Amino acid sequence: MVQCVVTGLGSYVPQRVLSNHDLEQMVDTNDEWIVSRTGIRERRLASADETTSDMAYHASVLALRDAGVRGEDLDFVLVATNTSDTVFPSTAARLQARLSDRPMAAMDVQAGCTGWIYAIAMAKALIESKACMRVLVAASDKLSSIVDYHDRSTAVLFGDGAGAIVLEAREGPGTVGVLSTYLNADGRGAELLVQPGGGSREPASHETVDGGLHFLKMSGNEVFRFAVKAMPEAVEEGLKRAGLTVDDIDFLIPHQANQRIIDAAMRQFHLSEHQVVKNVSRYGNTSVASIPLALDEARHEGRLLPGALVVLAAFGSGLTWGSVVLRWGMDR
Ligand code: ACO
Repeated sequence: MVQCVVTGLGSYVPQRVLSNHDLEQMVDTNDEWIVSRTGIRERRLASADETTSDMAYHASVLALRDAGVRGEDLDFVLVATNTSDTVFPSTAARLQARLSDRPMAAMDVQAGCTGWIYAIAMAKALIESKACMRVLVAASDKLSSIVDYHDRSTAVLFGDGAGAIVLEAREGPGTVGVLSTYLNADGRGAELLVQPGGGSREPASHETVDGGLHFLKMSGNEVFRFAVKAMPEAVEEGLKRAGLTVDDIDFLIPHQANQRIIDAAMRQFHLSEHQVVKNVSRYGNTSVASIPLALDEARHEGRLLPGALVVLAAFGSGLTWGSVVLRWGMDR
């Protein structure tokens, strides 16, 4: 039996801080509304010349160093993103070239904000089927590149960032690692959170740009209603697949989209403040990067003791949702 274990973790956020007070100068909003409706106080924005692959690279270098391996030692580079540097080739191919002189498999995983959860599930399957020994799973999104800073309903929500994890094969049942994954999608909600222009349906043109179709559009209320159902379902299904229940949760690391969505899950599962990792107030919604950022912060704060049962749960555009259940610990 082969177990998929964690050997390295890293994260990165750009330096520039955009506070709620900065946003008050840009759109018709105010700090009180943003904090009470979302819990967000500030977010980080990449500079104009900083790309999604740049952020993925910074996080990946830290994850590889943490694991004590080189880029050349990897078998596969997976990158979860919704804001690839270019529509093609993939951000993963660009990242692979910067991490290793040796060619290896590389591809992007695009599943809305659930992308990193999807990519971990892919890596687990590659490792447990013995197709790969060591997989880098990066997550990076530069949502500021597709946010309309004239639209107050979305401008206040999003930030930029990246995270990365190194997953490896270990023989035997083991005591730590990825215990289970759960993925789901319902494309009937595809138009609720969408970047309508620039794809093959509405190729980029003067009209699509004039109409702002290259910006992210979101039906916030509908996505909210979906999220408060989908995230708990993802938690319960992931645990069921691991043969566990909500009573076994030591830590929940939910997608950091909105404080109210996180608090609803916390109440539903009777979890304490200490058991739920939150950093949405400082980074906003960093899409695919939100969970690895929170996981890395919790690790550095010393909150995650070896053996802790950690549930990662996300939802996003697609609509997609899913979870990863981890027995925490670094098996280097
Ligand atoms: N500042 C001030 N007022 C605002 C703002 C703003 N930034 N945005 C909206 N308003 C106003 C609206 O115009 C509306 O005014 P009205 O009553 O006069 O019409 C009022 O505030 C209430 O608007 P709602 O949209 O009903 O506010 P709501 O409480 O639903 O909060 C929000 C909106 C924060 C977007 C919420 O719906 C939400 O978080 N949805 C989920 C979003 C999400 O999670 N998206 C990401 C999922 S996937 C991914 O991570 C990429």
